[in-house]
Amino acid sequence: MRVHASAGSTRTRSSETRGGVTVVVLAAGKGVRMNSKIPKVLHPVAGRPMLLWSMAAARALDPTRTLVVTNPAQDGVQAALNGEGQTVSQRDQLGTGHALAQVSTEHRNAGPLVVIYADTPLLRGETLVRLVGEHRKSGAAVTVLSATLDDPRGYGRIVRGRNGVFRSIVEEKDAVEDERQIREVNSGVYCFSGRELWPALLRLENKNQAGEYYLTDVVKLIKGKIKTMAVPDPMEILGINDRHQLAQAERVMRDRILDALMEQGVTITDRGTTFIDADVRIGRDSVVHPFSVVTGETTVGEDCVIGPFAQIRDSIIGDGCRIERAHLEQATLASNVLIGPFSRLRPGSMLDEGVRVGTHAEIKNSHIGAGTAIAHFSAVLDSDVGANANIGAGTVTANYDGQAKHRTEIGDRAQVGTDTILVAPVTVGHDAYTAAGSVITRDVPAGSLAIERSEQKIVEGWTARKRGRKTEVSKP
Ligand code: UD1
Ligand code: CA
Repeated sequence: MRVHASAGSTRTRSSETRGGVTVVVLAAGKGVRMNSKIPKVLHPVAGRPMLLWSMAAARALDPTRTLVVTNPAQDGVQAALNGEGQTVSQRDQLGTGHALAQVSTEHRNAGPLVVIYADTPLLRGETLVRLVGEHRKSGAAVTVLSATLDDPRGYGRIVRGRNGVFRSIVEEKDAVEDERQIREVNSGVYCFSGRELWPALLRLENKNQAGEYYLTDVVKLIKGKIKTMAVPDPMEILGINDRHQLAQAERVMRDRILDALMEQGVTITDRGTTFIDADVRIGRDSVVHPFSVVTGETTVGEDCVIGPFAQIRDSIIGDGCRIERAHLEQATLASNVLIGPFSRLRPGSMLDEGVRVGTHAEIKNSHIGAGTAIAHFSAVLDSDVGANANIGAGTVTANYDGQAKHRTEIGDRAQVGTDTILVAPVTVGHDAYTAAGSVITRDVPAGSLAIERSEQKIVEGWTARKRGRKTEVSKP
């Protein structure tokens, strides 16, 4: 879902006259340290591909344009962008400076240009806004977002002269021992003045350990004032190069999501065992109990009780619902629906107001009318069930004949007896009953009873004959 500030268009226009901000997101790297078959920037953090976190942060700047440098050999990156931004292709991965150099001349103007590395998902939009603000105020040629870390390993260090004046950024690979002790690091987020950036980029060389064109070297080649802005929360600049850092980012992001939900009036009883994705919405006074995982684009209403042990993905849940030890995927629940424990709602389950689903029920591609109960082990598949019906324990809608799927229709107030097999396509009318243990293959008219059983036979004295005359069989 794309979010645009409503005041955006007017603000964009006024900033354009001052030279609106261009954002370039670098996303073409190989991501070797991830040891993965999928591109690094598509690895999700709290359910959202890393790259989309950078895109979201960039939106806070209301940029004139957002360019994304991508590797044409990496599948899925373009699709993940879903039409947002404009991609710029970097065929060979010759470094971050080389990546920026792929921006064509038509997009090179004198105005401010913000560079973000797409492996920095914790970066906040408001930090970018502050960075551009400081940059504009100081009139610098470049403002580098920096951080001071307890453990600076893996980052480029900011080397300063004796008087504290910025000298250069040294990559760890190229750093001497003294430089490695420096704890002030480069975040990989910069605001450049286009006027000074583009000529400096032409002078970039690759004489370093990696043989790459480092964007970090552009900073010292630039003619003009060089500024740094320290990020208040160093966690924001965490760069994801491997799976350890990915797990670290996941944790921080999940904490942020839980904090935001609690601000919005949601009770989280145990944040350590609660996993909620970024695109989940939960209404006021809902409670999420431990061991619950709510993911994808899920919306939960007000006054719901979720968990313990609920797993909900891409679902819509109305107000006042209770979901315990259940698994829901692409399900839609109206208000006051009760689910569980131990039930599964598969894609296309639509449950109206006040439906009760108990234990070991499976529902798929079915509409269940208001007030209907499916209280015990049942499989309701490809069905349309009316309102206030009762589906007895062990009911199965046999939806598949080995070749095609068929639908079952059950009317309002119908009473489907225990252990009924409904062989689809079949209809049970309004107010109709089916007797326990029946296999229903023909439609049941409204208001009637269908009974399908062979008659019960009693063979008297059978047990004694089987066991021999010595056995006494007592009366029940
Ligand atoms: C980079 C910085 C380092 C900084 C750190 C912060 C350089 C030379 N070093 O190191 O100073 O402290 O980030 O996290 O910039 N990319 C491309 N094309 C390329 C190479 C990289 O698009 O040819 C992209 C990657 O997809 C990634 C970003 O640029 O999103 C950074 O590349 P990466 O290799 O992760 O740089 P670091 O070694 O982390
Ligand atoms: Ca990195």
